[in-house]
Amino acid sequence: LGNGLALTPPMGWNDWNAYGCNVSEQLVEQTALAMHNNGMQAAGYQYVNMDDCWMASSRDGGGNLVANSSKFPHGIAAVANYVHSLGLKFGIYEDAGTATCAGYPGSYGHEQQDANLFASWGVDYVKYDWCNIPFGNFSGQSHQQVAKTLYTRMRDALSATGRPIVFSMCNGWDGSVQPATWAGPVANLWRTTADIQPNFGSMLSNFHNTVGLAPYAGPGAWNDPDMLEIGNGMSATEDRAHFSLWAEMAAPLIEGGNLVNASSTTLSILTNRAVIAVDQDPLGKPGTQVSSSGGHDVLARQLSNGDVSVVLFNETGSTATISTTAAAIGKSGASSYTLTDLWSGATSTTTGTISASVPAHGAVMYRVAGGTTGTPPSGTVHAVGAGKC
Ligand code: GLA
Repeated sequence: LGNGLALTPPMGWNDWNAYGCNVSEQLVEQTALAMHNNGMQAAGYQYVNMDDCWMASSRDGGGNLVANSSKFPHGIAAVANYVHSLGLKFGIYEDAGTATCAGYPGSYGHEQQDANLFASWGVDYVKYDWCNIPFGNFSGQSHQQVAKTLYTRMRDALSATGRPIVFSMCNGWDGSVQPATWAGPVANLWRTTADIQPNFGSMLSNFHNTVGLAPYAGPGAWNDPDMLEIGNGMSATEDRAHFSLWAEMAAPLIEGGNLVNASSTTLSILTNRAVIAVDQDPLGKPGTQVSSSGGHDVLARQLSNGDVSVVLFNETGSTATISTTAAAIGKSGASSYTLTDLWSGATSTTTGTISASVPAHGAVMYRVAGGTTGTPPSGTVHAVGAGKC
Protein backbone atom coordinates (compact mmCIF):
# COMPACT_ATOMS: atom_id res chain seq x y z
CA LEU A 1 0.00 0.00 0.00
CA GLY A 2 1.51 3.29 -1.08
CA ASN A 3 0.88 5.15 2.16
CA GLY A 4 4.61 5.50 2.81
CA LEU A 5 4.44 3.10 5.77
CA ALA A 6 5.97 -0.33 6.41
CA LEU A 7 8.70 0.13 3.82
CA THR A 8 10.32 -2.71 5.73
CA PRO A 9 8.20 -5.39 7.45
CA PRO A 10 6.54 -4.10 10.65
CA MET A 11 8.10 -5.24 13.94
CA GLY A 12 6.28 -5.34 17.24
CA TRP A 13 4.10 -7.40 19.56
CA ASN A 14 0.48 -8.58 19.67
CA ASP A 15 -1.27 -10.16 22.65
CA TRP A 16 -3.39 -12.79 20.86
CA ASN A 17 -1.03 -15.79 20.70
CA ALA A 18 -0.18 -15.79 24.40
CA TYR A 19 -3.28 -14.26 25.98
CA GLY A 20 -6.26 -14.79 23.63
CA CYS A 21 -9.19 -12.68 24.85
CA ASN A 22 -7.43 -11.64 28.06
CA VAL A 23 -6.25 -8.28 26.78
CA SER A 24 -6.17 -5.34 29.21
CA GLU A 25 -4.69 -1.93 29.79
CA GLN A 26 -2.30 -3.42 32.32
CA LEU A 27 -1.08 -6.12 29.92
CA VAL A 28 -0.51 -3.69 27.05
CA GLU A 29 1.25 -1.12 29.23
CA GLN A 30 3.40 -3.67 31.09
CA THR A 31 4.42 -5.25 27.80
CA ALA A 32 5.26 -1.87 26.23
CA LEU A 33 7.42 -1.04 29.25
CA ALA A 34 9.12 -4.44 29.04
CA MET A 35 9.89 -3.87 25.35
CA HIS A 36 11.26 -0.45 26.21
CA ASN A 37 13.60 -1.90 28.84
CA ASN A 38 14.57 -5.35 27.56
CA GLY A 39 16.33 -4.40 24.33
CA MET A 40 13.44 -5.12 21.97
CA GLN A 41 12.65 -1.49 21.21
CA ALA A 42 16.35 -0.81 20.64
CA ALA A 43 16.47 -3.78 18.26
CA GLY A 44 13.68 -2.27 16.15
CA TYR A 45 10.38 -3.50 17.61
CA GLN A 46 7.96 -0.60 17.40
CA TYR A 47 4.29 -1.60 17.38
CA VAL A 48 2.44 -2.62 20.54
CA ASN A 49 -0.78 -4.13 19.23
CA MET A 50 -4.02 -5.13 20.94
CA ASP A 51 -6.00 -7.91 19.34
CA ASP A 52 -9.66 -8.94 19.65
CA CYS A 53 -11.75 -8.55 22.84
CA TRP A 54 -10.79 -4.99 23.78
CA MET A 55 -14.36 -3.77 23.20
CA ALA A 56 -17.62 -3.62 25.09
CA SER A 57 -20.32 -5.83 23.61
CA SER A 58 -22.18 -3.01 21.87
CA ARG A 59 -21.69 0.48 20.43
CA ASP A 60 -22.86 3.58 22.32
CA GLY A 61 -25.94 5.65 21.42
CA GLY A 62 -23.90 7.57 18.84
CA GLY A 63 -22.79 4.37 17.15
CA ASN A 64 -19.24 4.67 18.50
CA LEU A 65 -17.16 1.69 19.53
CA VAL A 66 -16.60 1.57 23.29
CA ALA A 67 -13.73 -0.05 25.16
CA ASN A 68 -14.50 -2.69 27.79
CA SER A 69 -14.38 -0.51 30.88
CA SER A 70 -13.12 -3.14 33.29
CA LYS A 71 -10.25 -4.12 30.99
CA PHE A 72 -9.51 -0.49 30.02
CA PRO A 73 -10.63 1.70 32.93
CA HIS A 74 -8.80 4.74 31.50
CA GLY A 75 -9.91 4.23 27.90
CA ILE A 76 -7.93 3.44 24.79
CA ALA A 77 -6.49 6.92 24.21
CA ALA A 78 -4.75 6.74 27.60
CA VAL A 79 -3.12 3.45 26.65
CA ALA A 80 -2.03 4.87 23.29
CA ASN A 81 -0.58 7.92 25.08
CA TYR A 82 1.38 5.72 27.45
CA VAL A 83 2.75 3.60 24.60
CA HIS A 84 3.70 6.77 22.70
CA SER A 85 5.40 8.20 25.80
CA LEU A 86 7.85 5.29 25.60
CA GLY A 87 8.62 6.07 21.96
CA LEU A 88 6.58 3.10 20.72
CA LYS A 89 3.53 2.92 18.43
CA PHE A 90 0.08 1.56 19.18
CA GLY A 91 -2.08 -0.88 17.21
CA ILE A 92 -5.69 -2.00 17.42
CA TYR A 93 -7.89 -4.80 16.02
CA GLU A 94 -11.20 -4.63 14.17
CA ASP A 95 -13.15 -6.66 11.63
CA ALA A 96 -14.68 -5.99 8.20
CA GLY A 97 -17.92 -7.77 9.11
CA THR A 98 -20.77 -7.17 11.53
CA ALA A 99 -18.84 -8.70 14.44
CA THR A 100 -15.23 -9.59 15.20
CA CYS A 101 -14.13 -13.22 15.32
CA ALA A 102 -14.77 -13.21 19.08
CA GLY A 103 -18.19 -11.58 18.61
CA TYR A 104 -17.59 -7.89 19.41
CA PRO A 105 -18.97 -5.12 17.15
CA GLY A 106 -17.47 -5.15 13.65
CA SER A 107 -16.83 -2.11 11.46
CA TYR A 108 -19.25 -3.04 8.65
CA GLY A 109 -21.28 0.10 7.88
CA HIS A 110 -19.22 2.14 10.39
CA GLU A 111 -15.89 2.21 8.56
CA GLN A 112 -15.31 5.97 8.52
CA GLN A 113 -16.69 6.48 12.02
CA ASP A 114 -14.37 3.78 13.39
CA ALA A 115 -11.35 5.00 11.43
CA ASN A 116 -11.94 8.52 12.78
CA LEU A 117 -12.23 7.22 16.32
CA PHE A 118 -9.01 5.20 15.97
CA ALA A 119 -7.19 8.24 14.61
CA SER A 120 -8.52 10.40 17.47
CA TRP A 121 -7.21 7.83 19.95
CA GLY A 122 -3.73 7.88 18.37
CA VAL A 123 -3.83 4.46 16.71
CA ASP A 124 -0.86 3.74 14.42
CA TYR A 125 -1.75 0.26 13.11
CA VAL A 126 -5.04 -1.51 12.37
CA LYS A 127 -5.36 -5.29 12.01
CA TYR A 128 -8.62 -5.86 10.12
CA ASP A 129 -10.16 -9.33 10.31
CA TRP A 130 -12.70 -11.21 8.14
CA CYS A 131 -15.31 -12.81 10.41
CA ASN A 132 -19.10 -12.41 10.19
CA ILE A 133 -19.13 -10.88 6.71
CA PRO A 134 -22.69 -10.16 5.48
CA PHE A 135 -22.21 -11.91 2.13
CA GLY A 136 -25.99 -11.74 1.59
CA ASN A 137 -25.63 -8.01 0.94
CA PHE A 138 -23.31 -8.76 -2.00
CA SER A 139 -25.34 -11.29 -3.93
CA GLY A 140 -23.65 -12.74 -6.95
CA GLN A 141 -20.22 -11.54 -5.87
CA SER A 142 -17.31 -13.83 -5.05
CA HIS A 143 -15.72 -13.69 -1.62
CA GLN A 144 -12.66 -12.17 -3.25
CA GLN A 145 -14.74 -9.36 -4.75
CA VAL A 146 -16.37 -8.68 -1.38
CA ALA A 147 -12.96 -8.64 0.30
CA LYS A 148 -11.68 -6.14 -2.28
CA THR A 149 -14.69 -3.91 -1.61
CA LEU A 150 -14.56 -4.04 2.19
CA TYR A 151 -10.78 -3.78 2.59
CA THR A 152 -10.60 -0.94 0.07
CA ARG A 153 -13.35 0.82 2.01
CA MET A 154 -11.35 0.65 5.25
CA ARG A 155 -8.11 1.57 3.48
CA ASP A 156 -9.81 4.73 2.19
CA ALA A 157 -11.41 5.48 5.56
CA LEU A 158 -8.03 5.25 7.30
CA SER A 159 -6.42 7.38 4.61
CA ALA A 160 -9.15 10.02 4.97
CA THR A 161 -8.25 10.49 8.65
CA GLY A 162 -4.89 11.93 7.59
CA ARG A 163 -3.12 9.93 10.30
CA PRO A 164 -0.37 7.51 9.18
CA ILE A 165 -1.84 4.08 10.02
CA VAL A 166 -0.39 0.74 8.96
CA PHE A 167 -3.18 -1.44 7.50
CA SER A 168 -2.96 -5.17 8.20
CA MET A 169 -5.35 -7.45 6.31
CA CYS A 170 -6.43 -10.72 7.91
CA ASN A 171 -8.62 -12.81 5.61
CA GLY A 172 -6.66 -15.96 4.89
CA TRP A 173 -9.19 -18.54 6.02
CA ASP A 174 -11.22 -18.09 2.91
CA GLY A 175 -9.42 -20.03 0.17
CA SER A 176 -11.04 -18.02 -2.61
CA VAL A 177 -9.83 -14.65 -1.28
CA GLN A 178 -6.13 -15.19 -2.19
CA PRO A 179 -5.04 -11.80 -0.82
CA ALA A 180 -1.44 -11.91 -2.04
CA THR A 181 -2.62 -11.75 -5.65
CA TRP A 182 -4.38 -8.38 -5.23
CA ALA A 183 -3.69 -6.84 -1.82
CA GLY A 184 -0.52 -4.89 -2.70
CA PRO A 185 -2.37 -1.61 -3.35
CA VAL A 186 -4.84 -2.16 -0.50
CA ALA A 187 -2.86 -3.16 2.60
CA ASN A 188 0.64 -2.97 4.06
CA LEU A 189 0.51 -6.65 4.98
CA TRP A 190 -1.87 -9.53 4.46
CA ARG A 191 -2.20 -12.84 6.24
CA THR A 192 -1.40 -15.80 4.01
CA THR A 193 -2.35 -18.70 6.27
CA ALA A 194 -4.41 -20.21 9.03
CA ASP A 195 -3.75 -19.04 12.59
CA ILE A 196 -0.32 -20.10 13.80
CA GLN A 197 -0.04 -22.38 16.85
CA PRO A 198 3.04 -22.76 19.05
CA ASN A 199 4.22 -26.03 17.53
CA PHE A 200 6.66 -26.98 14.77
CA GLY A 201 4.01 -28.45 12.44
CA SER A 202 1.94 -25.27 12.42
CA MET A 203 4.99 -23.05 11.92
CA LEU A 204 6.16 -25.35 9.09
CA SER A 205 2.78 -25.26 7.38
CA ASN A 206 2.66 -21.46 7.49
CA PHE A 207 6.18 -21.35 6.04
CA HIS A 208 5.21 -23.69 3.17
CA ASN A 209 2.06 -21.69 2.43
CA THR A 210 3.95 -18.39 2.25
CA VAL A 211 7.41 -18.90 0.77
CA GLY A 212 6.10 -19.28 -2.80
CA LEU A 213 4.31 -15.93 -2.58
CA ALA A 214 7.61 -13.97 -2.53
CA PRO A 215 7.01 -12.28 -5.92
CA TYR A 216 3.93 -10.50 -4.56
CA ALA A 217 5.71 -8.74 -1.68
CA GLY A 218 7.93 -5.68 -1.49
CA PRO A 219 8.33 -2.37 0.35
CA GLY A 220 4.99 -1.33 1.84
CA ALA A 221 3.31 -4.64 1.00
CA TRP A 222 4.22 -7.85 2.82
CA ASN A 223 3.12 -11.47 3.02
CA ASP A 224 2.17 -12.23 6.63
CA PRO A 225 2.58 -15.88 7.66
CA ASP A 226 1.19 -14.81 11.08
CA MET A 227 2.72 -13.69 14.33
CA LEU A 228 5.80 -15.12 16.00
CA GLU A 229 5.55 -17.86 18.62
CA ILE A 230 9.06 -17.39 20.05
CA GLY A 231 9.13 -18.68 23.63
CA ASN A 232 5.57 -20.05 23.44
CA GLY A 233 6.33 -23.77 23.40
CA MET A 234 8.75 -24.77 20.67
CA SER A 235 12.35 -25.70 21.48
CA ALA A 236 15.06 -23.04 21.20
CA THR A 237 16.28 -24.79 18.03
CA GLU A 238 12.79 -24.59 16.53
CA ASP A 239 12.36 -20.99 17.66
CA ARG A 240 15.63 -20.03 15.93
CA ALA A 241 14.46 -21.79 12.75
CA HIS A 242 11.09 -19.95 12.98
CA PHE A 243 12.83 -16.57 13.37
CA SER A 244 15.32 -17.34 10.55
CA LEU A 245 12.55 -18.37 8.14
CA TRP A 246 10.36 -15.36 8.92
CA ALA A 247 13.35 -13.01 8.40
CA GLU A 248 14.31 -14.74 5.15
CA MET A 249 10.71 -14.37 3.87
CA ALA A 250 10.64 -10.64 4.83
CA ALA A 251 7.72 -11.43 7.13
CA PRO A 252 6.42 -9.00 9.74
CA LEU A 253 8.14 -9.72 13.07
CA ILE A 254 5.20 -9.36 15.44
CA GLU A 255 6.05 -11.40 18.53
CA GLY A 256 3.14 -13.15 20.22
CA GLY A 257 4.66 -14.16 23.56
CA ASN A 258 4.77 -13.05 27.17
CA LEU A 259 7.45 -10.36 27.14
CA VAL A 260 7.07 -9.38 30.78
CA ASN A 261 8.52 -12.74 31.81
CA ALA A 262 10.46 -13.64 28.67
CA SER A 263 13.50 -15.87 29.20
CA SER A 264 16.96 -14.69 28.21
CA THR A 265 16.94 -17.32 25.44
CA THR A 266 13.70 -15.92 24.02
CA LEU A 267 14.99 -12.36 24.16
CA SER A 268 18.31 -13.30 22.61
CA ILE A 269 16.48 -14.89 19.66
CA LEU A 270 14.11 -11.94 19.23
CA THR A 271 16.93 -9.40 19.38
CA ASN A 272 19.42 -11.11 17.06
CA ARG A 273 20.36 -8.02 15.09
CA ALA A 274 22.07 -9.86 12.27
CA VAL A 275 18.88 -11.83 11.55
CA ILE A 276 16.71 -8.73 12.03
CA ALA A 277 18.90 -6.89 9.50
CA VAL A 278 18.00 -9.53 6.92
CA ASP A 279 14.28 -9.16 7.68
CA GLN A 280 14.55 -5.37 7.50
CA ASP A 281 16.83 -5.20 4.46
CA PRO A 282 15.81 -2.08 2.53
CA LEU A 283 15.74 -3.83 -0.85
CA GLY A 284 12.62 -5.57 0.48
CA LYS A 285 12.91 -8.65 -1.70
CA PRO A 286 11.74 -11.77 0.14
CA GLY A 287 13.87 -14.90 -0.10
CA THR A 288 12.91 -17.80 -2.32
CA GLN A 289 13.40 -21.54 -2.24
CA VAL A 290 16.53 -22.51 -4.19
CA SER A 291 16.02 -26.20 -3.51
CA SER A 292 13.85 -28.45 -1.42
CA SER A 293 14.12 -32.18 -1.20
CA GLY A 294 13.40 -34.74 1.48
CA GLY A 295 12.60 -32.03 4.01
CA HIS A 296 15.90 -30.22 3.44
CA ASP A 297 15.38 -26.66 2.20
CA VAL A 298 17.75 -24.02 0.89
CA LEU A 299 16.47 -20.44 0.76
CA ALA A 300 18.28 -17.42 -0.65
CA ARG A 301 17.53 -13.74 -0.31
CA GLN A 302 19.25 -10.94 -2.21
CA LEU A 303 20.26 -8.05 0.09
CA SER A 304 20.71 -4.38 -0.69
CA ASN A 305 24.51 -4.33 -0.28
CA GLY A 306 25.02 -7.23 -2.70
CA ASP A 307 25.25 -9.93 -0.02
CA VAL A 308 22.94 -12.93 -0.12
CA SER A 309 21.31 -14.38 2.95
CA VAL A 310 21.00 -18.16 2.95
CA VAL A 311 18.93 -20.38 5.22
CA LEU A 312 19.63 -24.11 5.37
CA PHE A 313 16.49 -25.53 7.01
CA ASN A 314 16.02 -29.09 8.22
CA GLU A 315 12.33 -30.00 8.45
CA THR A 316 13.09 -33.56 9.44
CA GLY A 317 13.53 -35.25 12.80
CA SER A 318 17.23 -36.10 12.32
CA THR A 319 20.40 -34.08 11.90
CA ALA A 320 21.39 -33.62 8.27
CA THR A 321 24.07 -31.99 6.17
CA ILE A 322 22.42 -29.46 3.88
CA SER A 323 24.41 -27.96 1.02
CA THR A 324 24.17 -25.49 -1.79
CA THR A 325 26.64 -23.48 -3.85
CA ALA A 326 27.51 -19.85 -4.42
CA ALA A 327 26.32 -20.23 -8.02
CA ALA A 328 22.96 -21.63 -6.93
CA ILE A 329 22.29 -18.60 -4.72
CA GLY A 330 23.20 -16.17 -7.52
CA LYS A 331 26.82 -15.41 -6.53
CA SER A 332 29.68 -15.46 -9.01
CA GLY A 333 32.95 -13.81 -9.97
CA ALA A 334 35.10 -14.42 -6.88
CA SER A 335 37.60 -17.10 -6.03
CA SER A 336 36.25 -17.20 -2.51
CA TYR A 337 33.27 -15.93 -0.53
CA THR A 338 32.89 -15.03 3.12
CA LEU A 339 30.18 -16.72 5.14
CA THR A 340 28.97 -15.22 8.40
CA ASP A 341 26.87 -17.55 10.55
CA LEU A 342 24.12 -15.22 11.79
CA TRP A 343 23.44 -17.26 14.96
CA SER A 344 27.00 -18.02 16.12
CA GLY A 345 28.70 -14.99 14.56
CA ALA A 346 31.48 -17.24 13.23
CA THR A 347 32.96 -16.40 9.85
CA SER A 348 34.53 -18.73 7.31
CA THR A 349 35.46 -18.69 3.64
CA THR A 350 34.47 -20.97 0.80
CA THR A 351 35.40 -21.32 -2.85
CA GLY A 352 31.83 -22.27 -3.65
CA THR A 353 30.24 -24.88 -1.43
CA ILE A 354 27.89 -23.62 1.26
CA SER A 355 27.09 -26.39 3.66
CA ALA A 356 26.33 -27.12 7.29
CA SER A 357 25.25 -29.87 9.64
CA VAL A 358 21.75 -28.76 10.64
CA PRO A 359 20.00 -30.20 13.70
CA ALA A 360 16.51 -31.71 13.47
CA HIS A 361 13.90 -28.93 13.06
CA GLY A 362 16.75 -26.41 12.96
CA ALA A 363 18.16 -23.82 10.61
CA VAL A 364 21.61 -22.44 9.86
CA MET A 365 21.60 -18.93 8.48
CA TYR A 366 24.51 -17.34 6.62
CA ARG A 367 25.19 -13.96 5.10
CA VAL A 368 27.33 -14.57 2.01
CA ALA A 369 29.63 -11.77 0.82
CA GLY A 370 31.99 -11.42 -2.12
CA GLY A 371 31.89 -11.52 -5.91
CA THR A 372 28.85 -10.18 -7.68
CA THR A 373 25.22 -11.06 -7.26
CA GLY A 374 23.33 -11.98 -10.39
CA THR A 375 19.67 -12.51 -10.93
CA PRO A 376 18.44 -13.97 -7.69
CA PRO A 377 16.64 -17.29 -7.78
CA SER A 378 13.06 -16.69 -8.82
CA GLY A 379 10.22 -17.81 -6.62
CA THR A 380 7.56 -20.26 -7.63
CA VAL A 381 4.06 -18.98 -6.93
CA HIS A 382 1.98 -21.51 -5.06
CA ALA A 383 -1.68 -21.21 -4.23
CA VAL A 384 -2.40 -19.31 -1.03
CA GLY A 385 -3.04 -21.75 1.77
CA ALA A 386 -6.55 -22.00 3.04
CA GLY A 387 -7.34 -21.99 6.72
CA LYS A 388 -8.84 -19.81 9.39
CA CYS A 389 -7.16 -16.47 9.50
C1 GLA B 1 -8.65 -14.55 13.93
C2 GLA B 1 -7.26 -14.04 13.60
C3 GLA B 1 -6.37 -14.13 14.84
C4 GLA B 1 -6.99 -13.34 15.96
C5 GLA B 1 -8.42 -13.82 16.22
C6 GLA B 1 -9.14 -12.93 17.21
O1 GLA B 1 -8.65 -15.91 14.21
O2 GLA B 1 -6.69 -14.76 12.56
O3 GLA B 1 -5.07 -13.66 14.56
O4 GLA B 1 -7.02 -11.97 15.60
O5 GLA B 1 -9.20 -13.84 15.02
O6 GLA B 1 -10.46 -13.35 17.43
